[in-house]
Amino acid sequence: MSLERLEPKTLQASEVPNFAMGNIHLFMESMMEYEAALMEVETKLKVLNSEFALRYKRNPFESIHCRVKKPMSIMEKMERKGYPMTIEGMEENLQDIAGIRVICSFPDDIYAIAKFLVQQDDIRLLEKKDYIEKPKDNGYRSLHLILAVPIFLAERKKWMKVEVQFRTIAMDFWASLEHKMKYKKNIPNAEELFVELKDCADIISAMDVRMQELRNRIEVK
Ligand code: GTP
Ligand code: MG
Repeated sequence: MSLERLEPKTLQASEVPNFAMGNIHLFMESMMEYEAALMEVETKLKVLNSEFALRYKRNPFESIHCRVKKPMSIMEKMERKGYPMTIEGMEENLQDIAGIRVICSFPDDIYAIAKFLVQQDDIRLLEKKDYIEKPKDNGYRSLHLILAVPIFLAERKKWMKVEVQFRTIAMDFWASLEHKMKYKKNIPNAEELFVELKDCADIISAMDVRMQELRNRIEVK
């Protein structure tokens, strides 16, 4: 199992988006707070993984990836959505500045981990999108949670938003290819490819269910 994360990165002044230029310090502080929120949620997930490993002799997830959205992507999204171009406007409206992707082997583990995380008394569930139960039209599957988590600073406590995406290995494999294709221009017969991708999503989903059933049969013994 690999547990990867990006180390907190010091932003260069040149990376600060235009809307925050008047208050670079506040912007840096906000980015640091999102990093802190990521660390909080990542630790909670790792604790659950260790407990599962000890109790059930298996790890519910294969890997965790954490990232703070790049300043340029923050600005692009705020402009695209027409949000107020201020630090408050950013914190208020963007829910995915702190993002965690949790990759599990089996669909049941996704729901188990999500449940144990959300029921912790310092976690607030702001939004849930279950694209596993109800996949997107293109075939995309994942469970998305928007959480609020408190971080404890020197003189105050602040609630931060974190987006957690849970996927199986197979769903992640699919989403990576779909993501590449979406941003590739001038693909010949693109329509056909998207139909084929949708078909792959259905095959992958059926395989996840079969693998889950196999594991259930093994674990009954
Ligand atoms: P945005 O946050 O603006 O993307 O809109 P939203 O909040 O309505 O998005 P949603 O919760 O549906 O998706 C958030 C994230 O999930 C995206 O930024 C992607 O990382 C991922 N995602 C959603 N849909 C797809 C998809 O069709 N394909 C892939 N590859 N990833 C997706
Ligand atoms: Mg979103």
